[in-house]
Amino acid sequence: MTHTFPRDFLWGAATAAHQIEGNNLNSDWWKLEHDAADYIQFSGDAIDSYHRFEEDMRLLADAGFNAYRFSIEWSRIEPSPGKFSRAELAHYRRMVETAVRLGLSPVVTLHHFTHPMWFGAKGAWLGDGAVEAFSRYVEQACTILDGVEWVCTINEPNVLAVNHGLRRRAAAGKEYSLQGALPDPEIGQALVAAHRAAAPLVRAATGARVGWTVANQALVPAPGVDAKYAEVQYQWEDMYLEVARHDDFVGVQSYTSQLVDENGVVDHPPHPDNTLVGWAYRPDALGIAVRHTREVVGDLPIVVTENGIATDDDRRRIAYTSEALRHLGEAMDDGIDVRGYLHWSLLDNFEWGRWEPTFGLIAVDRETFVRHPKPSLAWLGAIARTGQLA
Ligand code: BGC
Repeated sequence: MTHTFPRDFLWGAATAAHQIEGNNLNSDWWKLEHDAADYIQFSGDAIDSYHRFEEDMRLLADAGFNAYRFSIEWSRIEPSPGKFSRAELAHYRRMVETAVRLGLSPVVTLHHFTHPMWFGAKGAWLGDGAVEAFSRYVEQACTILDGVEWVCTINEPNVLAVNHGLRRRAAAGKEYSLQGALPDPEIGQALVAAHRAAAPLVRAATGARVGWTVANQALVPAPGVDAKYAEVQYQWEDMYLEVARHDDFVGVQSYTSQLVDENGVVDHPPHPDNTLVGWAYRPDALGIAVRHTREVVGDLPIVVTENGIATDDDRRRIAYTSEALRHLGEAMDDGIDVRGYLHWSLLDNFEWGRWEPTFGLIAVDRETFVRHPKPSLAWLGAIARTGQLA
């Protein structure tokens, strides 16, 4: 089946500051990597995109894409409370201007999993004045967003609430396990409050469309577990999607699908097709995620802000993405208003404590930082150029 995407469709790739920039010294993740050095890897220089962002954007633009989603780093912009770095704001302004000059619409994320160390030390999202602190940062960030048409306030608040929920349990000496973990509802509520405070600030200060990006798990119920499924679905993503009803768009982030049984979300069963992060190979998840999002948020523009696969076989990346786009095209044919597709990720990067899972359209030599585009970059770029999925 062929599909023709609209002419003004956003075609891009996504990254996040901590995963690509390097030496993110003032962030809570830098501290975590040092504290947990026995069992997670270190981001270090990452792939030095802090200095090489223009080269990275140029590779994307030259391949035929028209958008780049990147995040700006709170811990660089506000290294100590209330002390803002003019130089770092100017750095991110240069990124915005470079993207625009190269013909890439910047899709800017204000918060992608990392916090200034001082914010973490004050209890992060459950600390006193968390929402006020975030708002103060957002006000400063707005000063460099002129010309940006799409702003994501917080990346995957639901995943952030899972991770910080686990840290909270660990700190309280309680048992914790990532398997089947759901977002901590209290942390989730704090993130909802932060988004509700930030979105109008961005809207008033810039002409951008504002939204947040939700991790969609394409949850599917086992037979006879409707009540449990509804409960899990709400706690996992619907609580965050409902908030988006008041926004200008919602970001859908989809990689895989999971079953819900009477005990909750079922872990991916081992399978030879599982990806390098152990997730089931489910290119159809994107269609499920987009359709579910539409059901919850109503007729609101959707941008696929992340979709991709951790694999060391680029042919699999092309096969997965082609299938995912086919499902996306079908959802659009059914009337769902999708405005763009931003692949995760532009570059092989620091996968939150691990370097082995490679999601990139471009490989990077981590000693020389030389970029090596994979065939998937040109393949997806050609679809971006023509809007045609064969
Ligand atoms: C995050 C990215 C991450 C990707 C793959 C999303 O949860 O936004 O930062 O690298 O998925 O795990």
